[in-house]
Amino acid sequence: MKGMDILLKEDRVFPPPEPFRRAANIQDPGIYEAAARDRLAFWESFARQLHWFRPWSQVLDWKVPDARWFVGGETNLSFNCLDRHLGSARRTKAAILWEGEPGEERTLTYTQLHREVCRFANGLKELGLRKGDRVTLYMPMVPELAIAMLACARIGAVHSVVFGGFSAEALRDRINDSQSKLLVTADGSWRRGTVVPLKKSADEALEGTPGVEKVVVFRRIGPSTSSGQGVPMKPGRDLWWHDLVARQSDRCEAEPLDSETMLYLLYTSGTTGKPKGIVHTTGGTMTGCYATTKWIFDIKEEDIYWCTADIGWVTGHSYVVYGPLLNGATVLMYEGAPDHPAKDRFWEIIEKYRVNIFYTAPTAIRTFMKWGDDHPGKHDLSSLRLLGSVGEPINPEAWIWYHRVIGGARCPVVDTWWQTETGHIMISPLPGLTDLKPGSATRAFPGIEADVVDDQGKSAEAGYLVIRSPWPGMMRGIYGDPERYKKQYWERFPGLYFAGDGCRKDAQGYFWLLGRVDDVLKVSGHRLSTMEIESALVDHPSVAESAVIGKPHDIKENSIVAFVTLKGSVQAAAGLPDELKAHVVKKIGSLARPDEIIFTAELPKTRSGKIMRRLLRDIAEGKALGDTTTLADASVVQALKEKYGEPE
Ligand code: PRX
Repeated sequence: MKGMDILLKEDRVFPPPEPFRRAANIQDPGIYEAAARDRLAFWESFARQLHWFRPWSQVLDWKVPDARWFVGGETNLSFNCLDRHLGSARRTKAAILWEGEPGEERTLTYTQLHREVCRFANGLKELGLRKGDRVTLYMPMVPELAIAMLACARIGAVHSVVFGGFSAEALRDRINDSQSKLLVTADGSWRRGTVVPLKKSADEALEGTPGVEKVVVFRRIGPSTSSGQGVPMKPGRDLWWHDLVARQSDRCEAEPLDSETMLYLLYTSGTTGKPKGIVHTTGGTMTGCYATTKWIFDIKEEDIYWCTADIGWVTGHSYVVYGPLLNGATVLMYEGAPDHPAKDRFWEIIEKYRVNIFYTAPTAIRTFMKWGDDHPGKHDLSSLRLLGSVGEPINPEAWIWYHRVIGGARCPVVDTWWQTETGHIMISPLPGLTDLKPGSATRAFPGIEADVVDDQGKSAEAGYLVIRSPWPGMMRGIYGDPERYKKQYWERFPGLYFAGDGCRKDAQGYFWLLGRVDDVLKVSGHRLSTMEIESALVDHPSVAESAVIGKPHDIKENSIVAFVTLKGSVQAAAGLPDELKAHVVKKIGSLARPDEIIFTAELPKTRSGKIMRRLLRDIAEGKALGDTTTLADASVVQALKEKYGEPE
């Protein structure tokens, strides 16, 4: 497995720095054992710290693969993120500090955020939204995205956030799969000094979404800027956010909701061509996000906390919005790119707002490393006290750089492993307790039973990561596809949750994640399926067949390499690779743009017709070819290998 050799050699250990340890929220190593002795009591103790309109009668009801947490309990996530804080000094505390890419600043206190959420929730009601209805949010990184999510949660509507980088077609499919009645979007978003035309993509998507009745448009860009032309509004369908909320009351009682009420859907890529809507519910998500944020990020009342993830991904759901707000924290949100107007933008922001906790992705860290130490060197980063990493394995070299250059060798680094499906962090250090090893996500969070198993499902030193028992924030299913849920996650090793990641466990029981073992690709931290990209390519009229693989990449973790066979009469014209790349961007979004297209007369297949991706990977990586004896036609590979000398 990739990365294994480097990781096996990594033996540096970083104990918690003494000043950090002494002030940490969690200092007692006994909590691991206590949680293992009674997992349910452990999770229950966190749920009890939150507000419930009605207590639960049973902590967990579990029949593989269906979990119900806090059975019979009634709560409201929006209430717990907002109203719960209004009776204390947090009332006037900043909940969200926002900075737009062009430099505007906004602050929303908990009182103000509560008011905005109430108004938008009333707006949703005016538009006829009821408990259980789905709402798609296709928004920039603005406070209104968090407001819309909290407003949905307040009335029991289900939000489905679609990342603004997805194309119109990808948006359309997600709207239709979720049967959303309402779309909330914006006239655009700033990214690297230009406008991302969200409304334009939304309009295109809406040509094929018969279920959508209304569209609420937040004015982010406005008609007056040089790039903002104003956006067309379709009478009877489209309305402005500001018009809708202007006529609403700023009081809206939070609806008591059963703990298992669906909270959100979030589409993610699996091993087939069709993205799956991961279902999360109220009480479990709330308890899991609250607990993990509190313990792993060591949140203190005065902290300024910044998670750089876009809310369009699960990290943004759990650790920009729900987890921090449940903890009454001050969350920083930044709209744009890290290199606009210059490559020190993040460090400038950290200095300006005196950020204490910073959570980002290895891809970003490796990019910063490449840009050089001068950029962070220009800024005072001494406010930082804790760093986090998420989304892919972090190589020890990047870890050490992050720790030294950004953290001034004084901040613990929490490398947090989890997934869209798990809802919250599952494997991570506790920063005041855990000795860190660069490249390892260290130990399972208390109350989480993670393990590594071999092909037969037996506990092993190296193999597949599994989770042995249910946890509060776990997915409750794939929207509209219970069979796929069962098959994908619970049948590979009966009764165990199969994460799809390769993993090694060292002598101390530390987990070393080794990347995906299925056809899911991580590219710059974004999750894609090889099949999805293949379907997009085959959709082009010139393409007969395609096979997509990930090729290890220093910064992005993987680059996308597509092997393509053309239809009989088609010649590979000079412009065709670019045309095919553009086609993938149109079908999925620029995040899925192939880095290389390799034309081949045939794809290497086994005698039973299965594409041998392992061989394609060897070819793309320029490695000696492995075993080719099962190939139907060995000359195909030889021809490809010769040709690969001159890609495209
Ligand atoms: O392969 C693992 C990798 O990201 C996958 C989940 O992707 P997604 O659902 O997009 O969620 C990403 C953010 C939680 C996992 O199956 N992954 C995530 N965090 C880590 C990781 N791999 C290694 N180390 C991590 N800390």
